[in-house]
Amino acid sequence: MLPAPFIAAVQQLIGAKRLLAEAADLQRYGVDRTTIWQPAPSAIALPGSVEEVQQLVLLANQYDVAVVPSGGRTGLSGGAVAKNGELVIALDRLNEVIEFNPIDRSVTVGAGMVTEALQNFAEQHGLYYPVDFASAGSSQIGGNIATNAGGIKVIRYGMTRDWVLGLKVVTGAGELLELNRGLLKNNTGYDLRHLFIGSEGTLGLICEATIKLARPPVDLAVLVLGVNDFPSIMTVLEKYTAAMDLTAFEFFSEAALCRVTEHTGLARPFESQAPFYALLEFEQGGDQLDTAMALFEQCLEAELVSDGVVSQSLSQAANLWKLREDISETLWHYKPYKNDISVKVSKMPDFILEVDALVAERYPSFEVVWYGHIGDGNLHLNILKPAELALEQFVAQCSSVSSEVSELVERYQGSISAEHGVGLLKKPYLKHSKSSEEIALMRAIRRSFDPKGILNPGKLFD
Ligand code: MLT
Ligand code: ZN
Repeated sequence: MLPAPFIAAVQQLIGAKRLLAEAADLQRYGVDRTTIWQPAPSAIALPGSVEEVQQLVLLANQYDVAVVPSGGRTGLSGGAVAKNGELVIALDRLNEVIEFNPIDRSVTVGAGMVTEALQNFAEQHGLYYPVDFASAGSSQIGGNIATNAGGIKVIRYGMTRDWVLGLKVVTGAGELLELNRGLLKNNTGYDLRHLFIGSEGTLGLICEATIKLARPPVDLAVLVLGVNDFPSIMTVLEKYTAAMDLTAFEFFSEAALCRVTEHTGLARPFESQAPFYALLEFEQGGDQLDTAMALFEQCLEAELVSDGVVSQSLSQAANLWKLREDISETLWHYKPYKNDISVKVSKMPDFILEVDALVAERYPSFEVVWYGHIGDGNLHLNILKPAELALEQFVAQCSSVSSEVSELVERYQGSISAEHGVGLLKKPYLKHSKSSEEIALMRAIRRSFDPKGILNPGKLFD
């Protein structure tokens, strides 16, 4: 329950109709894409300006109200879940382009702008925003920055962090900070912008962002290969990355492909089956297409791959991409337990064998679906819930296996969360990726930005 004077002050500030408390709103805004936690916020505030966000945070401090920042709620780790009567501050209305500068090749947008809208804006101006993933149609820029979202083009373009030139944020204490002023070069001590990127709503609310844009890629082609086993995927990756600049190198298992084709009605890439599939994307200009086909021949001869198809049109390329991109949405129907782990690409061949053996032993009767950004050293390991098993029991069982996977990740000096963030889901495993000294410093940083601890309590660490 929120204190009555707080509610009155918020209504006065943003208007009564911008403070939502209907059951359907609480349900919608109180949860992300996870299915584990029950949403239970007290209310949803929809501020219309940076000043209103700042005033809301000051009020929350005054009345000791916990706040959950909210973007498109497409997160997969529970980072935007509000389950304890919090006030959700949703940035949906801050969704405009504020300034575009073609000379700087940068655009400043409100945090509530949907990723796809930014991609379209860039395209209309002959430019390109390269951070892309299946949820681009509903995720918001602020949320992407708060989680340092990755996606399907990281091998060429990096993560969200690499595209943020500046941020306007309201800290947990209610200060308004303008970080890095959209500059490309700025060596003036600590770069607080980078602390906010990936902070999962624990340091402040991201209100505006200045984003760098790129030259658009030209004439992209998609190649899908049937790969004979896990280690062969890495050999294929090595061969292609040594010879070409790829814009993507993704993989998925036959189990993932079966589920997607069943669910979407999409055609398989080719008739034959393989245990794994690699999806490569590249600009086909110059001799790139010839190089890609020559490497394919070599891989066939070396018995690394068994079959392949290269796109002949944009629509065929898009359909091949859908085989990979629709996996996540398809698997939601099976309430998957999600792992998002990474190691250095050079360590991947050994790591994959160990993690595969561990999972096969510990999940003898569950369906394990593999896919991910293997070119970045990032595996998505999804465990599907058997229909007859209660959710709680399923999660408990998967959590205990996750501890073992996390120990393995630690041994390989990898990450327990490559791109989805820590949120609530990975909190118990953070110690496997960060030392206790590092976590102590993170706590101290959090306290400096949010001394009363009102922002996203319980997320990232307690
Ligand atoms: C993906 O790679 O498809 C996304 O990270 C979403 C997911 O893992 O489910
Ligand atoms: Zn992913």
